[in-house]
Amino acid sequence: MSKDILSTRADFPILKQTINGLPLVYLDNAATTHKPQSVIDAISRYYSTMNANIHRGNHTLAVQATQAYEDVRKKVATFINAPSSSQVVFTRGTTESINLVAYSFGQAFVKPGDEIIVSQLEHHSNYVPWLLMCQRQGAVFRVLPFDENSELDLQALEKLLNKKTRLVAVNHVSNTLGTVNPVEEIIRIAHAAKVPVLVDGAQAIQHLAHDVQALDADFYAFSGHKMYAPMGVGVLYGKKEWLEQLPPFQSGGEMIDEVTPDSVTFNVLPYKFEAGTPNVADVIGLGAAIDYLNQFNSAELQSYEDELLEYGLGLLRAIPGLTVYGNPRQRSAILPFNIEGIQHYDLGTLLDTKGIAVRTGQHCTQPIMDALHIAGTVRASLAIYNSRDDLDALAKGIDRVVRLIRRQT
Ligand code: ALA
Repeated sequence: MSKDILSTRADFPILKQTINGLPLVYLDNAATTHKPQSVIDAISRYYSTMNANIHRGNHTLAVQATQAYEDVRKKVATFINAPSSSQVVFTRGTTESINLVAYSFGQAFVKPGDEIIVSQLEHHSNYVPWLLMCQRQGAVFRVLPFDENSELDLQALEKLLNKKTRLVAVNHVSNTLGTVNPVEEIIRIAHAAKVPVLVDGAQAIQHLAHDVQALDADFYAFSGHKMYAPMGVGVLYGKKEWLEQLPPFQSGGEMIDEVTPDSVTFNVLPYKFEAGTPNVADVIGLGAAIDYLNQFNSAELQSYEDELLEYGLGLLRAIPGLTVYGNPRQRSAILPFNIEGIQHYDLGTLLDTKGIAVRTGQHCTQPIMDALHIAGTVRASLAIYNSRDDLDALAKGIDRVVRLIRRQT
């Protein structure tokens, strides 16, 4: 039987504390999620009982740590339905996963005059690496726009794709607007033009069920810290034919096969992409986070979060002067808004005095802000441990803060 979603709050010790004397209402989950006790314990247990460098030693601790690290790789492969754990590369996070592909793919496959298509809904982490790669390689950076509902224009994608296109980069879920992009359709369209697709799954991995094979993604990137695992660990999944062709991103220990003064050959997948001592403890924390998530039925989890999102959108839309941004057919976990006449930053600061944590600003998506002609938004974002109580507290907090500001101006 799957675990009861309503019981999850108690699993996260940080949520027991008060902020500014009030119970913490944490609605900044798109920035990072909190960690259940089981994840915290797994990291602590690793350092207390197992700490050793991996793939290098044959003493007991080194063998145990290597085994534990490689077990998590298998666990990740099963979690995303990768055909083989050799296609799961551990990185520092989504940003490093995307930089790896932008650097290595660019070096191997992008020539002057070639084109890369990046959506206008991207976080800077799936935008700037491609922009810089295009500058390095003399390639053309093309932007796939979004429409008035904050949905990507797939007809525009068909028009942008041509014989010079080398790759399409798109997120699964927008961190700023919550749009769930039709990545299956985008991949189908791109593949029909023989173009591979990289999907940034940073805001999807914790909310949607995953199957990289059904999706047919060429690359899929995500971070641990947004799925209840520690910061500093992430994953790059890639199709074998691509990962085998890409040159290494970083070089050093363990990524080599033979080294002479004249030449170097590289290790097999995935080690070719894991130079240096990896972040073993946090990989083990990622494994514990996957164990935590595996206790739930993923369809039930998604419908719980979707219902919560609809409830929150309803509450926000009823507040006079409040604009919710975007109106996509499918949205996940993100409530982006502004209130007429009030700076997003001021609203966020005053909500914090009520113990309510939200993010304010551009959310690392200046292209979205420019398209919407705004300086920033307030963003509330949901996780497994949120409930209607948190959204009621948000709506009440906004009401109080707005009254306070209006009284003073
Ligand atoms: N990418 C994270 C966010 O959207 C940090 O807040």
